[in-house]
Amino acid sequence: MTYSDTIGVMDSGVGGLTVLSELVKVLPSSKYIYLGDTKNLPYGSKTKDEILFFNRNILNFFLTLGVKDIAIACNTTSALTYEDLKKEFTPKGLRIFPLIQSAAYAAAQGLEAGDCICVLSTVATAKSGKYANEIHKANPCLKVCEIPCPGFVEIVENRLYDTQESKKLIEEKMNIVLENKAKRVILGCTHYPYLLDMFSKYVPREIFFNPAGSLAKSICSVIKNTDDIGDIDFYVTGDPCEFKKSAKLFFDIKKEVKKVEMPQFNLV
Ligand code: DGL
Repeated sequence: MTYSDTIGVMDSGVGGLTVLSELVKVLPSSKYIYLGDTKNLPYGSKTKDEILFFNRNILNFFLTLGVKDIAIACNTTSALTYEDLKKEFTPKGLRIFPLIQSAAYAAAQGLEAGDCICVLSTVATAKSGKYANEIHKANPCLKVCEIPCPGFVEIVENRLYDTQESKKLIEEKMNIVLENKAKRVILGCTHYPYLLDMFSKYVPREIFFNPAGSLAKSICSVIKNTDDIGDIDFYVTGDPCEFKKSAKLFFDIKKEVKKVEMPQFNLV
């Protein structure tokens, strides 16, 4: 089977499925390969070198299959390593679509000078300041408050929605959003749409912004729908059963999730 007309979608885990679900809405006829690097998550507490190593392995995996278009369904990758990946893999024929860069302009629309946008994200994304940079390119008069949320990815991947600890962690971060009187809150990690019901117990649901729709739109502007029947293949680097269970909120995966081996970081 050749994958040259297939879109590769990557994330550290089930988070990128929130992007895949938007892609499938606008490009239902496309074929997709989803890769969740579950063995190496969470990316958000790793160094740039580690994340780049993981990302390179994933893009090489897609290259080997013959995939040409890649959706980076991971904010941490978009923030830290996208520029390096673009430099290295564009000459090899890959077309790479990053998340933050596709979404920041849309996220800044409809707000006034001095309004505050809060960005919930992994520690690595918050530290990079990428959201603030990109939003300020669209509107330099907005206040951007980047809020690192360590532990949120683990809540989703390990399905810890009902524990007291998870609820406390989320309440703490939502209080920061309320203190900042945010007019908009960006779900700056693709895992966070899984937590939206919990977030909206504290903060009105309508002010949350999910960047996934913007990435899907930017891909849709260059890839056209056909009469084909779409399809998705799922791959993970960790446990396929756990992935299926944690994915449930966005995809009830009936087919086999395949396991793929990637090189270890410490062997470099
Ligand atoms: N879902 C990814 C993101 O958007 C990565 C989360 C993680 O593994 O820490 O940043």
